[in-house]
Amino acid sequence: MYPLQVVNRPNTALRSNIHGIDVKVPVLGGKKKPFIFFDNAASTPPLKSILAHMDEFMKWYSGVHRGTGYKSLLSSKVYDHSHDVIAEFVGADPVLDTVVLVKNTTEAINKLSYRLEFKPGDIVITTDMEHHSNDLPWRQQARVEYVQLDNLGKLDLDHLQSLLKKNYPRVKLVAVCGASNVTGHINDVHRIAELAHGFGARILVDGAQLIPHHSFNMKPHSHPQHIDFLAFSGHKIFAPYGCGALIGPRGVFEQGAPEYSGGGTVNMVFNDFVFWGAPPDRDEAGSPNVPGAYALAATLEYLKSLGMLQLSRHEQRLTSYVMEQLGNNREVILYGSTPRVGVVTFNIKGLSHALVGAILCFEAGIGVRTGCFCAQGYVRKLLGERENPGHLEYYAKRELYKLPGMVRISLAAYNTQQEVDVLLQMVEHIVSNKKAYRDSYYWSEELGTYIPKGLPVETLVEQIYQRVCP
Ligand code: ALA
Repeated sequence: MYPLQVVNRPNTALRSNIHGIDVKVPVLGGKKKPFIFFDNAASTPPLKSILAHMDEFMKWYSGVHRGTGYKSLLSSKVYDHSHDVIAEFVGADPVLDTVVLVKNTTEAINKLSYRLEFKPGDIVITTDMEHHSNDLPWRQQARVEYVQLDNLGKLDLDHLQSLLKKNYPRVKLVAVCGASNVTGHINDVHRIAELAHGFGARILVDGAQLIPHHSFNMKPHSHPQHIDFLAFSGHKIFAPYGCGALIGPRGVFEQGAPEYSGGGTVNMVFNDFVFWGAPPDRDEAGSPNVPGAYALAATLEYLKSLGMLQLSRHEQRLTSYVMEQLGNNREVILYGSTPRVGVVTFNIKGLSHALVGAILCFEAGIGVRTGCFCAQGYVRKLLGERENPGHLEYYAKRELYKLPGMVRISLAAYNTQQEVDVLLQMVEHIVSNKKAYRDSYYWSEELGTYIPKGLPVETLVEQIYQRVCP
């Protein structure tokens, strides 16, 4: 049906290593269909080989640094080595930088917002494109200025430059996403770093959506385009075991008290004085997530062995294909432009984003995300909507489908053109049958989703739950 514009060369090694790739889900008509996962920007599935490693490692799992015995020695070695692997994956400096292991990007950014010392009047520049996690933490610590967007929804770097100039020397940090979780736009973070450094500011890159999709290098500290701080999550790069990383200059984490203190963070504690430990220990309070660290490091090594460049090329081909095909449909509104990672957001004219997401799920077995993607400001701007406090009422009544939003497909390198074609055909079908779809679905407040009349979704979920989590 669709011209073969994409050479269908999925990274078969990666695909065959995806745990759960063969899961089938119930759809309308009493059938089951293979689940097509296009919500990789939220979380990626785990890898079979890593699960097997984990199983082996867990026989040796123990507390780290503070135990005696072989299990603790082995676990400490694994945990410490994980930091080195993560640093190397992003080109961090093994001596000048430290890798602080955290839960996820949100925790990493919050941690940094506490660890940087702001004086009254200090400014953080972030952007109108950010996930709430790279906006709200800064609002609590400093005055925040926002880089505006151009008419394609991309960052206006002239505006950034004027903000840096106008507020010199009070700008301490420019906090920007490497790639947007809404449009997938890839920001030229090295160019932004150069601009920031030119005005004495540092840069933080929120790498949650970039690091899983592109090879990345923070560049040497002496380079004008050096990235000072980088945050990313394991669960978006095939390691969903609750480990993410904050990487930055050791010197920053050698100063002052961490925002969480306790076991593991100190060298000596006296009644009236504490000698804090060296980084990263000072910022990794309590018993750390050793399995998560191991899974993340092992996953990064696996991806490196496949070649990040090869993986991202495949994803880029799929992304261009889906953009082009959806762009040909006059009933489809596409948001954003290029360059972008495999994130494509759209709406179908006259249909709620939530309804489109539900139809894709319950008729084609496709998982996407709909709504504002924790980036309400950016989505509103792309939709041309104003802030509307009246919308709070929709939250109170759980009428989420009434809120502004979009449908988001987010691809990863294991997805295939066949999967994309299923989606494209389904979008065409929805476009041709809008009224029928409006009539045959109802909104479930309980589940927070549209449900097709005739599919007992709640019961089906309960049955799966009983089987999977007995
Ligand atoms: N930030 C993640 C997303 O965009 C959860 O879906």
